Amino acid sequence: MSNVIQETAQKVMKKAVEMAPDGWMPGGEPDPLIGQRDGYIGKPVSRVDGPLKVKGQAPFAAEIVLENMVYAALVYSTVPKGRIATLDTSRAETAPGVVLVMTHENAPKMKPLPLFLTAPKAGGGDALPIFQDGSVHWNGQPVALVLAETQEQADHARSLIRVTYLTERATTSLEAAKARGIEDASFMGEPLKVEIGDAESLLAKAPVSIDAVYTTPAQNHNPIELHAATVAWNGDELTIHDASQAVAHTAWSLAQVFGIREEQVHVSSPFVGGGFGSKALWQHQVLAAAAAKLAGRPVRMMLSREGVYRVVGGRSLTEQRVAIGAGRDGRFQALVHTGISVMTDHNQMPEPFIMPAKCVYAADSIKLNVATAKMDTLANTFMRAPGEAVGTFALESAVDELADKLGMDPIELRLRNEPDKDPTEGTPFSSRHLAEAYRDGAERFGWGKRHARPGMRREGEWLVGLGCATATYPYYRMPGGAARIRLTKDGEAYVEAAAHEMGMGTATTHAMVAAQRLGLPLERVHFAYGDSAFPGVILAGGSQQTASIGFSVKAAWEALAKELLALAPKGSPLHGLGVDEVHARDGGLCKTDEPQRYVSYAMLLDDAGRDEIVVEAEAPPPLETQHWSMHSFGAIFCEARVNVVTGEPRVARLLGSFDCGRIINPKTATSQFRGGMIMGMGLALMEETEFDGRMGRIMNPSLAEYHVPVHLDVPEIDVMWTDIPDPHAPMGARGIGEIGITGTGAAIANAIYNACGRRVRDLPITLDKLL
Ligand code: MOS
Repeated sequence: MSNVIQETAQKVMKKAVEMAPDGWMPGGEPDPLIGQRDGYIGKPVSRVDGPLKVKGQAPFAAEIVLENMVYAALVYSTVPKGRIATLDTSRAETAPGVVLVMTHENAPKMKPLPLFLTAPKAGGGDALPIFQDGSVHWNGQPVALVLAETQEQADHARSLIRVTYLTERATTSLEAAKARGIEDASFMGEPLKVEIGDAESLLAKAPVSIDAVYTTPAQNHNPIELHAATVAWNGDELTIHDASQAVAHTAWSLAQVFGIREEQVHVSSPFVGGGFGSKALWQHQVLAAAAAKLAGRPVRMMLSREGVYRVVGGRSLTEQRVAIGAGRDGRFQALVHTGISVMTDHNQMPEPFIMPAKCVYAADSIKLNVATAKMDTLANTFMRAPGEAVGTFALESAVDELADKLGMDPIELRLRNEPDKDPTEGTPFSSRHLAEAYRDGAERFGWGKRHARPGMRREGEWLVGLGCATATYPYYRMPGGAARIRLTKDGEAYVEAAAHEMGMGTATTHAMVAAQRLGLPLERVHFAYGDSAFPGVILAGGSQQTASIGFSVKAAWEALAKELLALAPKGSPLHGLGVDEVHARDGGLCKTDEPQRYVSYAMLLDDAGRDEIVVEAEAPPPLETQHWSMHSFGAIFCEARVNVVTGEPRVARLLGSFDCGRIINPKTATSQFRGGMIMGMGLALMEETEFDGRMGRIMNPSLAEYHVPVHLDVPEIDVMWTDIPDPHAPMGARGIGEIGITGTGAAIANAIYNACGRRVRDLPITLDKLL
């Protein structure tokens, strides 16, 4: 960007910030809920959907039973690129129970999935033709589908299908991909490139510096619930019971594929057994719907664990260079974070690992860039904290290495480089209390007992070390949020939004928030979600669902209050008041500065002869992120042990000290943070998708060979938070869904270094790298 453009942009931004007073948020004044301490927000409420799940009464997508339903199984290509030469389905067609064999030769005409982010409701993981032309684009692509009366019959029949291929040259190794050329990448419409000053020359002149390459492998998604869809057609209307973190996107996108109207697709997904970015729209839902159409019967498609590895994308590998030049006082003179991730020709998802470096440290000069190399594999996709999960590993390992060189405590080094405004955007932070998170965390963890020099503490066969790292994830809010409220004269409220519960606690936290906003007891508020018939385009992704629902319900509440006030007759204590003069309490409305001027909802409705009021409203556009730099932060602490005989690394203790605004439900939030940190343990020590470099086939498509932390691997994980509300976020709460996985990888790597003196820059840190 030329200086003139940059300066103009800064002036515009400055003006925008001046126009946004403190506490401002889109739609008006700060959220009144931010300051309320006597409601549900902040209370450890147990999951409202817990009893149903424990009793096995929460139906998941693969548990829905439809009359006359048949079961699907898929055949996957065994070559990375080319076309189908011959397809022998004759034995499968006559196998017991078989109802249909579908291939590109008999599949209905379908358009490709609209690729995620290419349109407001596009939800596809890739943009390839599905069963249209016999072309093969990755090793593992579905090439044939069997429907049978039972799952076992379908699985048996699929084994009888014989496919041969005309193969084409494919790019299946990183070296070959790099040789094909790399390109600069952009993420959500923004180029992944920042240059402020001349970082390379300042780096070369810096008194102390570190310049290293860190690598992270490809990773696959492993939610416990397998990806599944149970689908049925009724004429031109499609019903899909899906496992989804994007019901509105799924409905619109499937309508595009089949050339029908969005309203003709009904997506239901009330319970999801983990998503992490993977429970989106992949080929299996499309194939299930196509086969159901062709067979004229409902279809259940549940991918096998191997099927998830073949059909559902994961995280790209990365190669990241981090270079930091600092003065002897530790202040950063140059910060460089560049590198590559891998993508395919049929998707658009670089791993944006420079995101942390954009906002975490002040530096005199900054150079950040992500480039992509193209491979012929399954499309990669979002995986919990795409970018930050692996970006913090590289950045925060490098900061630790620099601290070691400077002979400075790594927390002290970080605090010396705390920025007073966003270092790359120039905007003020909406709320940033990372220093407090470090201070409080260090005290609780016993950081003072750490030896600065590695290898100083030994207990029997184990070397013991402490490490820490910064966690960070942006506050996002995507446009399109909306909600509906139906309030009955019995004082029951039904709140509906096309949102999702994947196990993170949404159903509970938003029942709490809505109850507090409406001034009703929790048991009178019924929060419904997970259905495309509900309002809004609300993605359970980007840690933004809470903000999206929060603003939507706030807007719907304001619409409701307006209608209720219009009902107040002359002589009513509420007559003539505006929405901004009242708030909810005790099942009714009162004037905010004269709370005794109160009327219950029941009386307002009854007097007006109304049984209920239904309102629907859209969230205001997400302008807050243009005015403020909004990010969740945290400090992760780890105690690691390394066995001197076997090299085995063990995480002995983990503490996450977070600064994510107000915490709505300490109980579900604790689980969210812990879950993220456990996933961070997997990233640090275990997870790695192994590709056969010759054929591009994933060699470890099972939980036996692709390792994730199990109960015995996971120590006591402590979490704490500042609980300082963000004045610009609804309820004062920034997102917490993804931040736990960030920083954890580096905290573990840094603790391992402190334990044994071995710096591992290539994940996962397995014992062979420590011997
Ligand atoms: Mo998350 S990777 O945005 O589900």
